Amino acid sequence: MLQRDTAAHRAPGPDFLELPTWFLRFKDNTFNAFVTLAREYSPVARFPISPKRSLFLCSTPEGAQHVLQDNHKNYRKAVTYNFIKPVVGEGLLTSHGDLWLRQRRLVAPIFHRRRIQSYAATMAETTEELLERWERHGEAPLDIAESMSQVTLSIAGKLLFNRDIGLESDWIGDALVLLFRDVNQRIMSPLRVPRSVPTPQNRRVQKAIERLEKLVYGLIEERRGRAEELDDLLSMFMLAEDEETGEKMSDEQIRDELMTFIIAGHDTTSNLLSWALYLLSKHPGVRRRLEEEVDDVVSGQIPTFEEVRKLDYLEQVIDETFRLFPPAWTVEREPIEDDVICGYHIPAGSIVSVGPYFVHHNADVWDNPEGFDPDRFAPDKDRPPRYAHFPFGGGPRMCVGADFAILEAKLILGAIIRRFRLDLLTGHIIEPEGTVTLYPKHGIQMRLRRRS
Ligand code: HEM
Repeated sequence: MLQRDTAAHRAPGPDFLELPTWFLRFKDNTFNAFVTLAREYSPVARFPISPKRSLFLCSTPEGAQHVLQDNHKNYRKAVTYNFIKPVVGEGLLTSHGDLWLRQRRLVAPIFHRRRIQSYAATMAETTEELLERWERHGEAPLDIAESMSQVTLSIAGKLLFNRDIGLESDWIGDALVLLFRDVNQRIMSPLRVPRSVPTPQNRRVQKAIERLEKLVYGLIEERRGRAEELDDLLSMFMLAEDEETGEKMSDEQIRDELMTFIIAGHDTTSNLLSWALYLLSKHPGVRRRLEEEVDDVVSGQIPTFEEVRKLDYLEQVIDETFRLFPPAWTVEREPIEDDVICGYHIPAGSIVSVGPYFVHHNADVWDNPEGFDPDRFAPDKDRPPRYAHFPFGGGPRMCVGADFAILEAKLILGAIIRRFRLDLLTGHIIEPEGTVTLYPKHGIQMRLRRRS
């Protein structure tokens, strides 16, 4: 059925003669170009990326709700997700239809709230290991983005696969930056060199994928024959049987899921933590108030699960960090049939980005959108509409690891604040780079001081 509203308008966007300048902007800095485009032509910006296909950037809560929830049946994951398929294949993030539903149901118990509670001890123990390393490191500058990547990877590995892969974080981090930058270049480049052509860039990408694959197939091999012994995500994949055919999951499908969970399970949380520590160093008043809350609530060195639940101001700080720097800054879909968003006609086959970043920075939705003010989320204030703040997406494809991530982020931040005060190194430039996730391009160099 054609859903096109005949009264719907063509969304505004750069005119034909401006396109070369915009393509150069995209090539130079994709994230900045997206943000400028979304802002200049809000609420729905149109940009033709090929003669047949346009990109639409939507920056209103209503648009996000329409695409992700109310009319989600008319949307599938956009072709942009195909660019990450060489890495994550048909894992939970990228698959569709029956396969997606079966896998989503399969993993649900691992991410159930009651089960998440039992993860606090491992999260605490791994955070303690990080803080001990920091103690030994002393006051010399440190890239805390690297530390956050290591601790979150370690936690995801231990809890999901019973293997500490934190020590691999250096090369995994480099591989992801390389792969995600390549994805950005491919999305916005009118002339793409196929991956099969052995250019230096393609060879680097292939090598990074092979190294990740080696890690993942190693995990599967190690577990073979003893999957019953452990009750984690990896065993769950290895033991699962199709309800109708009784068939086990293929090694390729398990590979895709492990790749998905290694990446989705740490990179976003790591970025959130880095941005939060950066923002706190720039806002000493907020930091002081947070230190008071943490000192009041946390009796030992690391918050317990019960104490984490009492850290309300910390939750506000996290919500405000999510607003300013949503790690999953763009969520993309493709309409199956023509649609109308905020009164604008969206042809079938387009790419629609309902970017949390665009909505979270929209001045029609938020007062002083660029300011850092955790009190926006104070209990006595009205909650913003559901899709004014949606760092975990929404609708059926909403993040499966949201509760896991929140517990982890509160626990790690609470523990850091209890023991250390972190200050940004003078002169260090902070520049957000948005590829698949939004991260600090040059890391975050900080100096640590022991508080107590
Ligand atoms: C700060 C942390 C996180 C953020 C901001 C985040 C954000 C998101 C968003 C926005 C989506 C939806 C993408 C879309 O609709 O296209 C998503 C999906 C997903 N996330 Fe997260 N995520 C986080 C942490 C995690 C963690 C800790 C895990 C696992 C341990 C995880 C696993 C996944 C998976 C598997 C999906 C695909 C779900 C599906 O399509 O059914 N995420 N995430």
